[in-house]
Amino acid sequence: MGKTYKIAVMPGDGTGPEVVAEGVKVLRAASAKFGFQLDFTDFDYGGERYKRTGEVLPANAVSELSKHDAIFLGAIGHPDVKPGILEKGILLYLRFALDQYVNLRPVILYENVETPLRNKGPAEIDFVVVRENTEGLYAGAGGVLKKGTPDEVAIQESINTRKGVERCIRYAFEYTRKRNKRKKVTLCGKTNVLTFAFDLWERTFYEVAKEYPDIQTDYAHVDATCMWMVKNPEWFDVIVTDNMFGDIITDLGAMIQGGMGIAAGANINPSGVSMFEPIGGSAPKYTGKNVINPLAAIGAAQMMMDYLGEAAAAQAIEKAIRQVVSTKIKSLSAGKMGYSTTEVGDLVVAAL
Ligand code: IPM
Ligand code: MN
Repeated sequence: MGKTYKIAVMPGDGTGPEVVAEGVKVLRAASAKFGFQLDFTDFDYGGERYKRTGEVLPANAVSELSKHDAIFLGAIGHPDVKPGILEKGILLYLRFALDQYVNLRPVILYENVETPLRNKGPAEIDFVVVRENTEGLYAGAGGVLKKGTPDEVAIQESINTRKGVERCIRYAFEYTRKRNKRKKVTLCGKTNVLTFAFDLWERTFYEVAKEYPDIQTDYAHVDATCMWMVKNPEWFDVIVTDNMFGDIITDLGAMIQGGMGIAAGANINPSGVSMFEPIGGSAPKYTGKNVINPLAAIGAAQMMMDYLGEAAAAQAIEKAIRQVVSTKIKSLSAGKMGYSTTEVGDLVVAAL
């Protein structure tokens, strides 16, 4: 008998529960096929719980989640709750508290998926963004003075520590080696303007690079990165960048790979508890309609298998996703797939 993994499931808000259910369905099928056990525990953290109890997270949330091997998250964000409360109080809080210092976001265009980039296909769109996930502008440093007056001052500082930057960059090099594709890491920064923060990033990047003579290095400013992602996405293999830039370029990445319906991500603490999520939001307008695309969540489940060391299961899930995408589904957009949410989950299970 294989190993048993304890998985914390946080379906969250909006369409989160619907896509997570399909992810769990695929995970159960994979565990049966590959001979390991999954022990799921549900956590109701999200907008509904907040409305009911008035607390974003219970005091024991981190200690409870820490008892698991991984966390599977649907979506956080509720139309009745002021933007920022749940995002900061749950999603960002957990990323920080669990020290998930890498946000890994693959940008892969599957066969037969429509991309807005003319003349680009699966051979050209195949890279991964390693986004720093615990520092930068997201650290919440700063403050406000004289709020609401004509003299108001708002300061939001980007925190970049040598340790935080170095561990993220090192992860990117290790990942590039393991991925073994173009063997190139591009640092995405803004060294021409953010001369303190990205000076640290740049020096650290080239210092760490010396330990990886087999990996080619490259640098692009964030604005140029956006340009090249559209014009020459084939130049990229692994991009490493800070939290804010990573947030922005991965939405662009999601669009060129066919949309939020397929974009998955992993919040990784290599020596702790990692959290896997579809990177799109809670999509409230599609809630309960059985039309949302669950493939991003299934992709996140696949990344979880890879992270847990069940490589064969991860590869099989990826193959099943590819097969369903290229031979069955009409479009990756909600309501246009030609199948319901649950049917897409069933198709992936059948392909497995
Ligand atoms: C993401 C999201 C979050 C972020 C929001 C919801 C706080 O946009 O995961 O990319 O900015 O990191
Ligand atoms: Mn984002």
